[in-house]
Amino acid sequence: MASVLIAPHDRVFVLTGAGISAESGLPTFRAEDGLWAGYRVEDVCTPDAWRRNPAEVWAFYSARRKAGLKAEPNAAHIALAELEACLGDRFFLCTQNVDDLHERAGSVRLVHMHGELAKSRCERECGRAPIEDRTVYRNLAEVGRCACGGRLRPHIVFFGEVPLEMERIQDEIAQATLMVVVGTSGSVYPAASFVHWARQGGARTVYVGPEPPLNASAFTQVVVGKAGEMLPGLFQVE
Ligand code: APR
Repeated sequence: MASVLIAPHDRVFVLTGAGISAESGLPTFRAEDGLWAGYRVEDVCTPDAWRRNPAEVWAFYSARRKAGLKAEPNAAHIALAELEACLGDRFFLCTQNVDDLHERAGSVRLVHMHGELAKSRCERECGRAPIEDRTVYRNLAEVGRCACGGRLRPHIVFFGEVPLEMERIQDEIAQATLMVVVGTSGSVYPAASFVHWARQGGARTVYVGPEPPLNASAFTQVVVGKAGEMLPGLFQVE
């Protein structure tokens, strides 16, 4: 059984991807039957798609909201929340996922670098904060407008847009002595670079997932298996 030792001086940075929510019934993106097999990124997840066809973009994210509402955190989300409870501010979680399963499992010190499914924001970037919005829209006419008149768009980082909270993420990686990456194919940047940044800072790097990611060679340890089976019991906190 694999194990990862966490010493009293360690600071842990965790990066998660779609794989951690797979056992909760949410499909990943790049599997043969994944989300990008059924949709074209250019039609539903780019600024241009939003300009051309906001109805199709909302149809895609409304379907994601519907699936997300039904999903429950799995043993992997819970294991990370328990690790945070043990380590306090020596733990930081960055997820690429837009579902809220980490917070529903109890994680607190986390950022959603690719946005959040349960929020919407003004398409005009008028400065108003994103609002809570779990509505499953049936058509574009149902989608509300911001006080400034702009249409509400999903609070999602489209391809070509800058991920959120990058300064905080870079700061946390710089302080980390252990990086744990779970369930991400290593194909989307900048997240796929985090392991290299951590290595440059001298951190140990561990990957957990059923198959090695594209950037596997940058990890000091690869734990092969499903997150829900491997994460519980993986960490030995000294
Ligand atoms: N446990 C752990 N990992 C798993 C599991 C599981 N049970 N099932 C699948 N995986 C792994 C796969 O082996 C794969 O490496 O999850 C990874 C999912 O990869 P992707 O589908 O590419 O998802 P992700 O890496 O999160 O995508 C990154 O791409 O489309 C965008 O914005 C979207 O945040 C997303 C980003």
